[in-house]
Amino acid sequence: MLNKIANAEQHLYEQVAHQIQGLIEQGTLRPGERIPSVRRFSAQNGVSISTVMQAYALLEDHGVIEARPQSGYYVRLRSRELPPEPAISHPPLAAARVNVPDLVIRIHEAIENPDIVPFGAACPSLDLLPSRKLNRALGAILRRTNYAGVTYQSALGNQPLRHQISRRALDWGHHIAENDIITTFGCTEALNLCLRAVAEPGDTIAVESPTYFGILQIIESLKMKALEIATDPKTGVSLEALETAIRKRMVKACLLMPNFQNPLGCCMPEENKKELLRILARYEIPMIEDDIYGDLYHGADRPQPVKTFDKNGLVLLCASFSKTLSAGYRIGWTAPGRFKTQVERLKVTNTMSTAPLLELAIAEMLRNGGYDHYLRRIRKAYALQVQLTTRAICKYFPEGTKVTRPLGGFLLWVELPKSVNALALYRKALAEKISIAPGPLFSAKQRYPNFIRLSCGHPWSAELEQALATLGRLAGTM
Ligand SMILES: Cc1ncc(COP(=O)(O)O)c(C=O)c1O
Repeated sequence: MLNKIANAEQHLYEQVAHQIQGLIEQGTLRPGERIPSVRRFSAQNGVSISTVMQAYALLEDHGVIEARPQSGYYVRLRSRELPPEPAISHPPLAAARVNVPDLVIRIHEAIENPDIVPFGAACPSLDLLPSRKLNRALGAILRRTNYAGVTYQSALGNQPLRHQISRRALDWGHHIAENDIITTFGCTEALNLCLRAVAEPGDTIAVESPTYFGILQIIESLKMKALEIATDPKTGVSLEALETAIRKRMVKACLLMPNFQNPLGCCMPEENKKELLRILARYEIPMIEDDIYGDLYHGADRPQPVKTFDKNGLVLLCASFSKTLSAGYRIGWTAPGRFKTQVERLKVTNTMSTAPLLELAIAEMLRNGGYDHYLRRIRKAYALQVQLTTRAICKYFPEGTKVTRPLGGFLLWVELPKSVNALALYRKALAEKISIAPGPLFSAKQRYPNFIRLSCGHPWSAELEQALATLGRLAGTM
């Protein structure tokens, strides 16, 4: 790539660029790894900072390295090293009763077993969570008063927490009044209440295909039906397919993840989000928007939720702190737009209100705990973990494997050759103490027999690499 400039007439910065490229080609610097900072390279090699900067800019232009905001330069995965991406899904346009296998419960159980390699559940590593800071926030609250979190509170939930959520929404350009927010036990309760507010048993809910199995479980438990809609691993749900379903009066409501969809990791382009809203408004169809991964973008900016553009109150935004602060605290929230009264009523009968002590701890963390600083760190960590896992898949998985290129979050959706049965692979992998999430769990009709979802929530290690080599070997023999 830089061969053309590797000759005697090179400028110094070109020589430096060539030297770095040599290190990459020899494998001293590997794809996904950080290269020395400009300052350090300059000091170590006795060249000026501006020369190193020019060299890095050249390498960046040639796609050899990439800059990550506030983090430095990293060796890029070259596209010839990346496996192709899976194609858009094509589920038939037919509503289905849902029956999610109990395998989901086994995948969740694996989280608690330290002997099992954790590619199954979408769970951040304990090493990456700011537990000490959270403990400190909780301690500060308990020291302040003897009665923190002891009494009942309003169904809307803890006011300081709603204030913090409202304030943070301003950062992505949206005003949600704190009284338009209801706190919940995780995103799960938010999705549950919102579904019950907009639909009844027997109604059909449009979902992406594939979709997060927890969403299918909730639809199943509420005796509703799921209508899987074609979804592109790059741009999200097909608006054409969705509008066809809505026009045919097949859909009561939608439940979608426009930002960093689970399991695809894709993010809907802003124009699609606006078009989606136009369709919803035209037919007066409510949409539950699951934005649980919204803060975990790998790029420069947070993508806005669809809710930001909603003028009609049709979007019920749901999220939680499970992927960023603590899944165990079970603190989530919803901004249910014009359905607030219904959701509030349902909240009262469901759990009365969320646990105020833990809400206060999260509010304190948002207010005073360096949450944004922490998010910056964790976003980089996840982007790197996703890259390194992709690289290992390239190396160890059978010919014909395809992998998504998530723009946020920490999940990879892997299409294996047709000969591989993901459920059989799940069992074989578990026998080797490796947990994965097989594709059929992500479909109401148990489609995706040769797909798996891999969670990259844990810092890269030799053990993870070894487990991926084992998975690749197992898949290769099927
Ligand atoms: C897309 C999505 N929504 C909701 C949830 C559940 O969130 P919580 O643990 O906050 O209930 C998850 C957890 O994996 C998820 O991936």
